[in-house]
Amino acid sequence: MILKIPPNPPFSKGGARCYLTILFRARSLMMSARNNRRILKFLIVFLGLVPALLLVRATLNDQLGANPIQTLHFRLGDWALRFLLIGLALTPIKIITKQASPLRYRRMMGLLAFFYASLHGLVYVALDLSWSWTAFIDEVPKSPYIVLGLLTYLLLVPLAITSTKYFKKRLGRRWFSLHKLVYVAALTACLHYLWLVKLDVSQPLLYIGLLGILVSIRIVKFYRNRGA
Ligand code: HEM
Repeated sequence: MILKIPPNPPFSKGGARCYLTILFRARSLMMSARNNRRILKFLIVFLGLVPALLLVRATLNDQLGANPIQTLHFRLGDWALRFLLIGLALTPIKIITKQASPLRYRRMMGLLAFFYASLHGLVYVALDLSWSWTAFIDEVPKSPYIVLGLLTYLLLVPLAITSTKYFKKRLGRRWFSLHKLVYVAALTACLHYLWLVKLDVSQPLLYIGLLGILVSIRIVKFYRNRGA
């Protein structure tokens, strides 16, 4: 009996066409997924900058209330802390939903937090202290909460600088150890807020509670993985 061996699909004429069509379809699907991701990233950055744009508009229209510098300062500090916590929430969201996609936006959230923290610090030095470094050296050690704010900012600087793919590759495992500092930064930012509030501490306590929940989810996951 003669066995008829079917032609290897990719190497027959029709098979090659079919193969190429599948390849092109897969490629265009991947490209459109990449484009969608780019559009989503762009949209998230834009949304992240909306609070800053609204603050610019409120400043230009003189809508910042009786103490505009303080309002500006507070709102920028609030957004810095919010983006820091949103960035930290993405890993627990990944753990709960079992979807890795939220992690793509972690760097963006971190950079937005850094952006608002930089403006917050800038308002303090430029508007509160009128660029007087003597006043800065004089004031900062007197207020532990400002020391904590400064410490938070100093923790965020290396994280922002090394957030690129280049540094991630170069630093290898050390990158992950370094970026754990974001938890310390979130804690010092919350304490900075708690310390400066004189009467109603509900807001900073809410942020501390949120941070506690986010950290707990990660700790539970860590011990579950160890036990498995
Ligand atoms: C660059 C160093 C920093 C300095 C010098 C600084 C200084 C200050 C000062 C002086 C205030 C109180 C303003 C007032 O009572 O008039 C304040 C408030 C605040 N700061 Fe900072 N800060 C720094 C960094 C940070 C960072 C990195 C974060 C968060 C990631 C942050 C979050 C906040 C928050 C949430 C408030 C309170 C806002 C509110 O009451 O609504 N600060 N900061």
